[in-house]
Amino acid sequence: MRNISLLTLHRMKTTMKNSLIKIFLLLLASLVSGCKAEESMEQVTKRVFDLAAVQCEMMAQSLDSLSTPRSFNGTSLVTAPAKWWCSGFFPGTLWLVYEYTGDEKLRALAERETAKVEPIKWVTDDHDVGFQINCSFGQQYRLTGDSHARDVMHTAARSLAVGFNPTVGCIRSWSFQLDGTNWQFPVIIDNMMNLELLLSVAKTESESALEEVAVSHARTTMKNHYRPDFTTYHLVDYNPADGSVIRKQTVQGYADESAWSRGQAWSLYGFTMMYRFTREADFLERATVIAEMLLSRLPEDGIPYWDFDSPNIPNEYRDASAAAVMASAFTELASYVEDGSRYLAMAEKQLRTLASPEYLAEPGTNGGFILKHSVGHFPAGNEIDVPLSYADYYFLEALEKFANKH
Ligand code: GLY
Repeated sequence: MRNISLLTLHRMKTTMKNSLIKIFLLLLASLVSGCKAEESMEQVTKRVFDLAAVQCEMMAQSLDSLSTPRSFNGTSLVTAPAKWWCSGFFPGTLWLVYEYTGDEKLRALAERETAKVEPIKWVTDDHDVGFQINCSFGQQYRLTGDSHARDVMHTAARSLAVGFNPTVGCIRSWSFQLDGTNWQFPVIIDNMMNLELLLSVAKTESESALEEVAVSHARTTMKNHYRPDFTTYHLVDYNPADGSVIRKQTVQGYADESAWSRGQAWSLYGFTMMYRFTREADFLERATVIAEMLLSRLPEDGIPYWDFDSPNIPNEYRDASAAAVMASAFTELASYVEDGSRYLAMAEKQLRTLASPEYLAEPGTNGGFILKHSVGHFPAGNEIDVPLSYADYYFLEALEKFANKH
């Protein structure tokens, strides 16, 4: 009896020991998985570009010889002709994916889609020529040095500069009356982005007049578009006869006095880009105060609601496109200041959130777009909570900039 008890005791001890080992191993496994290194930004970038290659090929198959992608309505791709302001973004996206993957199939698609936008180089009454040509032919020229791409950029930059009025000191935006308002000389903050074409061509072709136009436009915008808290109005209407300000509005935002998110994104990117080309301290200073304002106002996950001042926040749509533009600008701005770690941290947060299942499309879905959840023109009821080509373009640009930041 005593012997049996001892044996039982021994077995019990062995069982307990084994159980404790098992528990220890399970705890260790859970600890290890809990501590599993977060996906690195290199891994995030690779994952997104792998997806982008699939999505781009799918999207390219849906396009005919004249159409360019605009959005996705849940069942089919919404397209637009080259004159639509977004026509340069898909070609630019293809060039960025080609750059990352080196896949010649994507280069062929990039050349095909870029060629569609060429007629825009003759447009002299619309500021969007900068977006359209710089994101397509500009990327082609950057990556290949193609002389035809360079010529197209040169012609386009001269066309864009035709809209400059020296009395106002700006290039006119919009050749049409968007809301039936009789603007005399509207200038929108978005127009800051188009100055990149002027500055890029001014440098390549040593054409200083184009740089003077860009610098004048940026300085006039700096003076008249901003509120004391460094949020920007969307539109300033000028009297073209004497350059005086007639009124200030926020056409695509919640209200004239609200901070429309994409406008704030164009504003941050615009002045960061101005500093890249000119190294003028006032442009850097403006970019940093805008950045500080954004850091103090962005939500926890870094993705802005479509308007910072919407009264429905937090029950409001986010705008992935504004986040993508900001991420690109924050990443670049970080390299121009002494300690850019807070700007990089915000860019990283925005990129990680955009690369999460909440925003990133599943392969083969979303009409071939990479990101979900952008807002085009809320007050007009257009493109609300949809994929948009510029969200994808600036997302990939931001990831490449982030990867090359060191
Ligand atoms: N330029 C147009 C927009 O940002 O919606």
